Amino acid sequence: MKFFIDTANLDEIKEAYELGVLDGVTTNPSLMAKEGISGEDQVNAHYKAICDIVDANVSAEVIATDFDGMVREGKALAKIDDKIVVKIPMIKEGIKAIKYFSSEGIRTNCTLVFSAGQAILAAKAGASYLSPFIGRLDDISFDGLDLISQIVHIYQNYGFETEVLAASVRHTMHLVKCAELGADVVTCPLKVITGLLNHPLTDKGLAQFLADHAKANK
Ligand code: G3P
Repeated sequence: MKFFIDTANLDEIKEAYELGVLDGVTTNPSLMAKEGISGEDQVNAHYKAICDIVDANVSAEVIATDFDGMVREGKALAKIDDKIVVKIPMIKEGIKAIKYFSSEGIRTNCTLVFSAGQAILAAKAGASYLSPFIGRLDDISFDGLDLISQIVHIYQNYGFETEVLAASVRHTMHLVKCAELGADVVTCPLKVITGLLNHPLTDKGLAQFLADHAKANK
């Protein structure tokens, strides 16, 4: 299972990368705005800065919603660095753009996916990654994990090569359940990755080991 970090914050990306378990970075326009990044030059420089931190792929999202615009922006993003994966929204023009990039050998991440039907379309168009947003489905009382299970099953039925990248992962149990269901990748905030470390018995056991060692070595 691959771990991607879902942020545009350079310090968090560095921290996750230094842990040694990071396989990629995903961003979106909201995450870029949260870091105060705006304007094409600043945005491109920020993507380059992310690519310079990690030896891993970096999803960069287009803003255009028409085919020509997505192709123009996606090509420019892909030129920034070989690590860039062009993130395209799940809309009609987006499917055409994914098909185009797939035929050009440019990797894509189809984002804003909320149904199995959308997942089938994206795979047929040749998306490299598919991003179903599980937390946002949970928010409206649909089970996001059920969607992951459904998509993994469908992709296995037909041997689709598109990787299921569970997104909008909000907590550690989302991540663990995605692993059980066979998602290829999860993307999540740093706190979800570091949250996997936590267990009170680990803390208690370590405190006891250190206390016993100190007593024996007085
Ligand atoms: O990867 C998509 C993700 O950024 C959305 O997460 O928590 O805003 O639903 P969230």
